Amino acid sequence: MNDIARQLNESIQAENPHVLELLSELGKELYFPKGILTQSAEAAKKAFRFNATIGIATEQGSPMYLPVIHETLASYDPKDIYPYAPPAGKSELRKIWREKMLAENPSLAGKTFGNPIVTNALTHGLSVAADMFMNPGDPLICPDKLWGNYNLIFGLRRKAKLVTFPFYNANGTLNVAGMRETLLAQKDHGKAVLLLNFPNNPTGYTPDEAEANAIVTAIQEVAESGLNLVVLSDDAYFGLFYEDSIQESLFARLANIHPRVLAVKLDGATKEDFVWGFRVGFITFAAESQIVLAALESKALGIMRGTISSGPHPSQTFVLHALQSPEFKTQRQAKCATIKRRANKVKQLLAKTKYHTVWDYYPFNSGYFMCLKLKRVNAEQLRLHLLVQYGVGVIALGNTDIRVAFSCVEEHELDELFELIYRGIQDLEHAQNLEQAQEL
Ligand SMILES: Cc1ncc(COP(=O)(O)O)c(C=O)c1O
Repeated sequence: MNDIARQLNESIQAENPHVLELLSELGKELYFPKGILTQSAEAAKKAFRFNATIGIATEQGSPMYLPVIHETLASYDPKDIYPYAPPAGKSELRKIWREKMLAENPSLAGKTFGNPIVTNALTHGLSVAADMFMNPGDPLICPDKLWGNYNLIFGLRRKAKLVTFPFYNANGTLNVAGMRETLLAQKDHGKAVLLLNFPNNPTGYTPDEAEANAIVTAIQEVAESGLNLVVLSDDAYFGLFYEDSIQESLFARLANIHPRVLAVKLDGATKEDFVWGFRVGFITFAAESQIVLAALESKALGIMRGTISSGPHPSQTFVLHALQSPEFKTQRQAKCATIKRRANKVKQLLAKTKYHTVWDYYPFNSGYFMCLKLKRVNAEQLRLHLLVQYGVGVIALGNTDIRVAFSCVEEHELDELFELIYRGIQDLEHAQNLEQAQEL
């Protein structure tokens, strides 16, 4: 093992041995090398005559660039666009994101957590966490309503054993008891990674106060029983809260709750700030010890250096510029209000009596989506029929569920959308009845 990695592990071991136990074999071996980037950072501060360290090209004290590229980016200083961004991301961006996190998550007050590290959006942040904490066969515990890409990130790449529990219980509230039991069942393995995503994709659900408290208590109890836990909060849709759910990340409530619980937050500008293609996200660790936080950051940077090397600089600059702008909050709130109006409209439409005969819907109060639970026809058959017959695209999940992204349908068109889904179901039922009649 590399000496720096060994030292990092020793310092983690001395501060909190459970964190070392939670690291994967790769995670234990990870370190950020004192290579070109470290030497170059040193030179950037001290080399006042010539800085001939890093592989970019400069002229007249500025990065070289082509006018054809700069002509559409002219309002930005070339130094904020063309050179490599630091491996952990632009420091002003990390700072402002941390401040935003504190302002939006009151429960973080007084807790110790690291500086957000910039990732190539949330998928990358999740895969950094998977690399750091997941060995083949380690259990990944998640609700059964989940973003399908977890299968690739954790299952396929890291050979995690995906163990799901039903998201809702029979009363249509969050199944915290199921989560607790599923976690406790991993005790013999010694460690587990719990992945919670609120506002949830695909259901659009975020827990209320009582459910959030129950989640925290359950995790505390599981930790007290001796299971080491990484708890990943996938906050992709953060801030899009429309009703009486909690309005902060569970990460804020899970940070520092128990030495066996390592809370990790994955968030980013992707969905919150409507910049899907920018690929700007963050991974943030919470631990009581600053030494552990520093070691985890080095390890995260090690895997990033070995994969993407560093994230794109222009989009970090764009996001930083937006966050610094006095109009940012108002503009963002206006867009969130538009999506909230759509969510309210969907709820209003779903109250139509005729709809109750063909579907139930899962509780939703946040995010981009809602999910129908079909009563009488198959979800994939309906999806294909809607596409071919009516030019309507929805996502089929399993046999019964249809995910509708109201985030991308105008409020005044939602009525027609649900009418067409309803009509599609009637068509399929009609065809089924005809078939049955012919068989008789
Ligand atoms: C729950 C969830 N997490 C993460 C992501 C990925 O986000 P990003 O585009 O920032 O990688 C998505 C995207 O659909 C998502 O739904």
